[in-house]
Amino acid sequence: MAYENILYQRELPAAIITINRPRVLNAINHETIAEIGRALDVADADPEVRAVIMTGAGGRAFVSGADIGELQAMDTAREGFEHSRRSHEVIFKMEHLSKPVIMAINGYALGGGCELAMGGDIILASENASFGQPEVNLGIIPGFGGSQRLPRLVGRTKALEWIFTGERISAQEALQWGLVNHVVPAGELMQTAKSMVDTIAQKAPLAIALAKRAVYHGLEMGPRAGNEAEMTYFGLAVGTADRKEGTQAFLEKREPEWQGT
Ligand code: COA
Repeated sequence: MAYENILYQRELPAAIITINRPRVLNAINHETIAEIGRALDVADADPEVRAVIMTGAGGRAFVSGADIGELQAMDTAREGFEHSRRSHEVIFKMEHLSKPVIMAINGYALGGGCELAMGGDIILASENASFGQPEVNLGIIPGFGGSQRLPRLVGRTKALEWIFTGERISAQEALQWGLVNHVVPAGELMQTAKSMVDTIAQKAPLAIALAKRAVYHGLEMGPRAGNEAEMTYFGLAVGTADRKEGTQAFLEKREPEWQGT
C-alpha cells in the first residue's frame, strides 16, 4: 500500500508507523489521518504483527499538531466538525485495535500530536519530548479527544490548567502527572519500544486483545458494570485453546506454544 505522509515498516513482531512530514514538524493533515487509519487496518489484519509502534520522522517532533494551514482554510462549523470526527474515528480505531499501540514520542507532541499520543495504549517519551494543548492560542479547543482523555489521565484540574494556558509540558512533568509511562534518552526510545513489543509478543495474542478490550470497555462504565464486562472477557479467554496450552505448559514446566486460537 502506498503512503505519502507516513512510513509503514514491518519489523516483526512490530509494525512501525512513522508520521513523515518533517518540513512541518509532522503536522497532520486530513490525508495523514486517513493514512494512519489505513496503516492501522493493515497492522491489525497481519497475524505476524503483535503490536504497533507510532513515532515521528526527523528527530524534532512526534507531531506538531493539526495542520494549521488546513485549519485556517476552513469556513464553516460543519467543516470543523468533520475534521474533528475523522480524527476521532482514527483514535477510536487505535483503542479498538486487537493489538497494543505503543507511542514513541520523540519531540513535540502538541495539540493533535498530544491527542494522538493519548490515543495509544502506552506512551514512551524521549527526554527532549514535550507535550501541550495550545489550541486556545489559535481560537479553537482540543478536537482530537484532548478535552476527554487528558482529564482522565492527569485529573480535571491539571488538564484544565494545561488547556487554558496552552503551556508546554516537559517529558519529566508529563511523567510526574501520569501522562506518559516512561521517559528515556532519545537514542534509546525506539529500542525501548521494540523491547516492549518483544515482551508482549511472548504472551498469548488473544489474551492481550481481550485484556485491552476489557480495560477500554470498562472505562466507559461504572465499576460494577465494568467488572461484569470483565467476567465476559475472562470467560472468552478461558474458552481459547491458548488458555489450555498456557496453563498446561506452566504445570509441565515448559514454555507455551501459542496458536492464537
Ligand atoms: N501546522 C502547520 N505547520 C506547522 C505546524 C502546524 N501545526 N507546526 C509547525 N509548522 C511549520 C511551521 O510553519 C514552519 O514552516 P516554515 O518552515 O514553512 O515556516 C515549520 O513547521 C517549522 O516550524 P517553526 O515554527 O519554524 O519551528 P520552531 O522550532 O520555531 O517551533 C513549534 C516549533 C512546534 C513550537 C512551532 O512550530 C509551533 O508552535 N507550532 C504549532 C503548534 C500548535 O499550535 N499545534 C496545535 C495546532 S491545533
